[in-house]
Amino acid sequence: MKILVTGAEGQLGTELCGEFADAEVHRADLDGSGHLLDITKQDQVDALIDEIKPDFVYNAAAAHNVPQCEEDPGFAFAVNATGSRYLALACDRVGARLIHVSTDYVFGDGGSRPYVESDLPQPLNVYAASKLAGEHLIAAACPNHIIVRTAAIYGPAPCRAKGGRNFVGTMLHLAATRPEVKVVTDEFTTPTYTIALAKQMRLLAEKGAPGLYHATCQGECSWFDFAKAIFEETGTEVNLVEATNADFQSTVKRPSYSVLQNKHAQDQDLDTLPHWREALKAYLATLS
Ligand SMILES: NC(=O)c1ccc[n+]([C@@H]2O[C@H](COP(=O)([O-])OP(=O)(O)OC[C@H]3O[C@@H](n4cnc5c(N)ncnc54)[C@H](OP(=O)(O)O)[C@@H]3O)[C@@H](O)[C@H]2O)c1
Repeated sequence: MKILVTGAEGQLGTELCGEFADAEVHRADLDGSGHLLDITKQDQVDALIDEIKPDFVYNAAAAHNVPQCEEDPGFAFAVNATGSRYLALACDRVGARLIHVSTDYVFGDGGSRPYVESDLPQPLNVYAASKLAGEHLIAAACPNHIIVRTAAIYGPAPCRAKGGRNFVGTMLHLAATRPEVKVVTDEFTTPTYTIALAKQMRLLAEKGAPGLYHATCQGECSWFDFAKAIFEETGTEVNLVEATNADFQSTVKRPSYSVLQNKHAQDQDLDTLPHWREALKAYLATLS
């Protein structure tokens, strides 16, 4: 089995490559030790996919620094929409299945129960709109696709778009260096461990019917709850202070509730993702 992973140096791409230790994995990224590939260049995408003729292509490449996307929509759409379309066209031509990563941010404000795949998206910012455009362009170009919307990911490999440290690392760093740590109580999501997500994405690639899937850990929490759990699980002494979104000056709108239910996978008996708190414990155990 031949696998091509784009964004292979990234937080999720690294774990997707690790998940396929028994297969022939081709790593591709803007830089790094694998194939050099810019997904916004159609000639590069075509040449690599024609050369490898993969069975599965995982697209974990993305522009997802949210403020940067807001300032530069051309850049966001080039990577998240047009680049995804180039991959979809090439996959369709060689008969590869495309497994693409999207986001909970496609949903807007006003939600109060977990979103399922048939709920109507309502992107609130440029990043979210560009990811939703990518979903539609993939669906139009490559019927044999699996689109996976996930949320709040963290794991052993650093998030390249967000300067390296994940939320867990940031919280532990702030607790060690600041007199108090302020975290929002009014934004709800489900933290999702990249190693568990990579396993789920392999299962969906191998067994799932084509289409759109939500894939997050089970349960939900505010970012404050997540921070509290990190400090409890690590026995960290900290002055954790409740804050709201309004306390942080952000020019970018984000959904206050973007919890997902993995309904499409559950309907096929394919949802293997653990509860977010169990996944957090598993991750923290790797740090000690
Ligand atoms: N992080 C989250 O909490 C979160 C939540 C929901 C969904 N997602 C989605 O999950 C996916 C993976 O995110 P991640 O956290 O693993 O991201 P990441 O660590 O920033 O990795 C993204 C990778 O894509 C590469 N890349 C960027 N532009 C490219 C281009 N034009 N051509 C080829 N490669 C390019 C980056 O390379 P450089 O670093 O060299 O630019 C980087 O290696 C993305 O689709 C993201 O939208 C993430």
